[in-house]
Amino acid sequence: MSEGPYILGMESSCDETAAAIVRAGEELVSSVVASQIATHQRYGGVVPELASREHLKAILPVVSGALEKAGKTWQNIDALAVTKGPGLAGALLVGVSFAKALAFALDKPLIAVNHLEGHIHAVLLEQRQQGNHELEFPVLALVVSGGHTHLYLAERKGPGWMYRNIGHTRDDAAGEAFDKVAKLLGLGYPGGPIVDRLVKFGDPSAVRFTISQMKHRDRNDRGPRSDGPRFDFSYSGIKTAVLRYTETHAMAGAIESRRKALLALESPGAEDYRRLCDEETLNLVASFQRCVVDDLVSKTLEAAEAHEVRTLLVTGGVAANSELRETFERRAAEKGLAVYFPSRPLSTDNAAMIAAAAYPKWLARDFAGEELSAEANLPLR
Ligand code: KG4
Ligand code: ZN
Repeated sequence: MSEGPYILGMESSCDETAAAIVRAGEELVSSVVASQIATHQRYGGVVPELASREHLKAILPVVSGALEKAGKTWQNIDALAVTKGPGLAGALLVGVSFAKALAFALDKPLIAVNHLEGHIHAVLLEQRQQGNHELEFPVLALVVSGGHTHLYLAERKGPGWMYRNIGHTRDDAAGEAFDKVAKLLGLGYPGGPIVDRLVKFGDPSAVRFTISQMKHRDRNDRGPRSDGPRFDFSYSGIKTAVLRYTETHAMAGAIESRRKALLALESPGAEDYRRLCDEETLNLVASFQRCVVDDLVSKTLEAAEAHEVRTLLVTGGVAANSELRETFERRAAEKGLAVYFPSRPLSTDNAAMIAAAAYPKWLARDFAGEELSAEANLPLR
């Protein structure tokens, strides 16, 4: 058998209950994800109380499932890892309480992981799995999901990693904008994957959207503790612009019929969404996505240039987006930059990323104590 440690990771920060076993941060042994999409869909977004209840129901079967798929028993796992934050407080607590009880009962070390660091390690895990153990530094990571649009410069520090935030969203995260735009067009939840599938039927140059540019210098920029320029994002304006467009183009009636028609379908497929959208709506979503993608890529490349970055990591749920991947690949290549994404299953929330991010902490013997608690606003450093 290959050398361990075998780490069992658990994730419950938002609307996915997940467990996975990863060997030494480089081999994905098993991964199970129970999605709550069906529960939240009718509300057009995640309902925190329902999320906690669903996590409670799913956590034991999901963790047992990951052990079973890996051919492991509770006893022959070397350590446990769990998402401490950021995320929904009640949802996080389910995973943290479960992991603490398990660590106590099994007498195994427990490792607390930041969800955002997890997203970054999803890329590192898969790169190592493919034999790519060396990244060229400096490394810049864009974590782009339903809750975050954050840029981090990532550095090695002993066996672990250190992060410096050089940009974040001032209002809505990019994934949140996808979700809100899909909701206001009557397309359902989560919006990202639905919009992603529809854009090829629309004209991305049909509607002209602009995104406010927030480039500015850090407050400390002139002082001795200068952090350099910041590269902040803002996506609430474009969501409002889409809403205004639907109002000025009298789209309310069509949106309401679409919403009702989709609610009546048990599990609508790509063809249902396509059939229920007129040309105007298809053009609108294609133009919206093009604008968000261009902004994400342009700002990230600008930040990369300012910090003389050699490698880009793009991760989080929105990294599953086809146009975002293609645009990053094309424009990063023009600049001679390497860009890596997770595979699509590891772009959205999962526990393999948590077990992978725990490995450097295992090497550093950085274990959580009995006082471990969930932290909804946990920063990444
Ligand atoms: O990382 P994730 O699973 O959960 C958070 O940590 O937030 O990201 C979920 C977000 C949602 O906003 C969802 O709409 C978005 O990622 N998303 C996408 C795609 N797949 C998921 N956005 C654009 N295109 C996609 N293909
Ligand atoms: Zn996430």
